[in-house]
Amino acid sequence: MGNQVITDIDIIKPDSAKACETQLTVDQNTGKSKKLYIESYGCQMNFSDSEIVVSILKYHDFDTTSVIEEADVVFLNTCSIRDNAEQTIRKRLKKIDLLKNKKPELTVGVLGCMAERLKTQLLEEEKIVDLVAGPDAYRDLPKLISKVDSGQKAINTFLSREETYADISPVRLNSNGISAFISIMRGCDNMCTFCVVPFTRGRERSRDPHSIIKEAQELVDKGYKEVTLLGQNVDSYKWNKKDESANFAQLLEMVAEISPELRVRFSTSHPKDITDEVLHTIAKYENICNYIHLPVQSGNNRILDRMNRTYTREWYLNRVEAIRRIVGKDCGISSDMIVGFCSETEEEHQETISLMREVKYIYSYMFFYSERPGTLAEKKFEDDVPLEVKKRRLQEIMALQKEHSHYNTRKDVGKTFRVLIEGVSKKNNNQWKARTSHSTIVVFDKEDSKAGEYVNVKVNSCTDSTLLGQIVK
Ligand code: SAH
Ligand code: SF4
Ligand code: F3S
Repeated sequence: MGNQVITDIDIIKPDSAKACETQLTVDQNTGKSKKLYIESYGCQMNFSDSEIVVSILKYHDFDTTSVIEEADVVFLNTCSIRDNAEQTIRKRLKKIDLLKNKKPELTVGVLGCMAERLKTQLLEEEKIVDLVAGPDAYRDLPKLISKVDSGQKAINTFLSREETYADISPVRLNSNGISAFISIMRGCDNMCTFCVVPFTRGRERSRDPHSIIKEAQELVDKGYKEVTLLGQNVDSYKWNKKDESANFAQLLEMVAEISPELRVRFSTSHPKDITDEVLHTIAKYENICNYIHLPVQSGNNRILDRMNRTYTREWYLNRVEAIRRIVGKDCGISSDMIVGFCSETEEEHQETISLMREVKYIYSYMFFYSERPGTLAEKKFEDDVPLEVKKRRLQEIMALQKEHSHYNTRKDVGKTFRVLIEGVSKKNNNQWKARTSHSTIVVFDKEDSKAGEYVNVKVNSCTDSTLLGQIVK
C-alpha cells in the first residue's frame, strides 16, 4: 500500500450537500507507514470526534491526508439526524466505490451515528463498507483495522456509559489555529420523540472537568483564542466524583478563568435546563460570549408536548426574558425549529411564527420533520403532514428568519464592537472576517491587524446576516 495517486477520478470530491458539512483532514507527513482520510458530517460533536479518531490512529502508524486517492483507509464519520443526512452518505459511498474498484486494498469505514443506528445492516446493504464503528468504539479502531487487513469485515457498535475520551488530546483538523471545540459531555438522556441522538449516542455522561481545563489550557498555550464547549445539552453537565462536584455554570467559570484573552462559547443549551446561575456566570465574565443557542423546535404547547420537549411556550419565553434581563438586551439568541411535526395544524404552525416574532432570533437552523426509524414519534404518531405543506411552512419560517436576521444586523449599525479576527473574508482578500461576542460576522479592511487578534470595529452598514465596518483605534 502506499501513495498511488489516482488522478482521473475527480468525482471523488465530496458533494456540497447542504444538509451536512464535510471536514477534510490536514496533511500530516511524519513518516508513518499508512494514510488515513476522514470526512465528517452532521454536528460539531462529530467533527470533534474525528479529531479524537485521528489522535488514536496517529499512535498506530497513521498519518492523515486530504487527498482521498492517497489514502489506505477512508472513514466517513456520519450523521442520522434526518433521512437526507443518511442519503448523502449512501451517495458518497457509491462514489468511493469507483475508487475502490481501482484500489481494492482500500479500507472503507463508516463511523458515527449512522454506523450506530444501522450496525450490521450497513455491512449487508453497502458491500463496499469493510468497517463499522459507533461513537463509543473509537479506541477499538486499530484492532478493527487489523481485522479488515486480515480479510474480515469488522464492527463495534457497543455504547458505553463511561466513555468520554477524556485522556485523548484531539489532533485539530482544518483548524484556523484560533478557535477549537472541546467536548464536555457525550450522549443524551432527553428522549425528544423526533430524535435519533439518544439511540445513536447513548446515555448522557459528563467529562472530568480537570481534563477539560487541561485541554483548554493547552489550546491557550498554543495561541488559540476561542473555545466552544460542546454537548447535546450542556446545561445538564454534572460532575460528581469522590468529594468533587461541578455543574455547567461552575465549569464555565473555570474555563473563563483560564485567561481573559480566551473567548468561551458553548452549545447546545436546553430551554428546560438553562439556569439563572449560568446566565449570571455569562454576565460576570467579559470573555464568555453573549450568545446562546436555545432551540425551541415549536411555538405551540400541544406540539412541544408531543415532541416531549418538557417545557411550554411560556416557560421558553420566560427563559428568553431572563437572558435579556441578566445577560443583556444585546445577547444573541439563535434557535432550531422543526415544522410539520406529526399532526401539526396550520394554527399551531402560526404559533411558531408568532414566537419567532416575539424573540427575533439572530439566526435559526430550520428543518421540516423527517421521521426516523426507532424513535418514539415513529412508534406513536403518524407522519401525516403532507410534504408540500411541510415545505411551504419551512419556506415561511425561513423568509421570516431572514427578516429577523436583518432586523438584528440593522440594530448593530453605528455601534462599535470588540471582535476576534477569525481569518480572511471569502469575498475579499484584503478584508478580515471576525465575530462579535453575540456571534454576528463582521467584515472590514485588514489595515495592520492580524488573524487571531482582537480589534475594535465600528459598524457602518450591514446585509441580512453580516456587518460591514472599519477598525477604530
Ligand atoms: N441537542 C440539540 C439538538 C441536536 S439535533 C437540542 O436539543 O436542541 C439538531 C437539530 O436537528 C434539532 O434541534 C432539531 O431541530 C433537528 N432535528 C432533530 N431530529 C429531527 C428530525 N427527525 N427531523 C427534522 N429535524 C430534526
Ligand atoms: Fe435530540 Fe432532544 Fe437530546 Fe437534543 S435534547 S439531542 S433534540 S433528544
Ligand atoms: Fe447527527 Fe449524530 Fe450529531 S445524528 S446531528 S452526528 S449526534
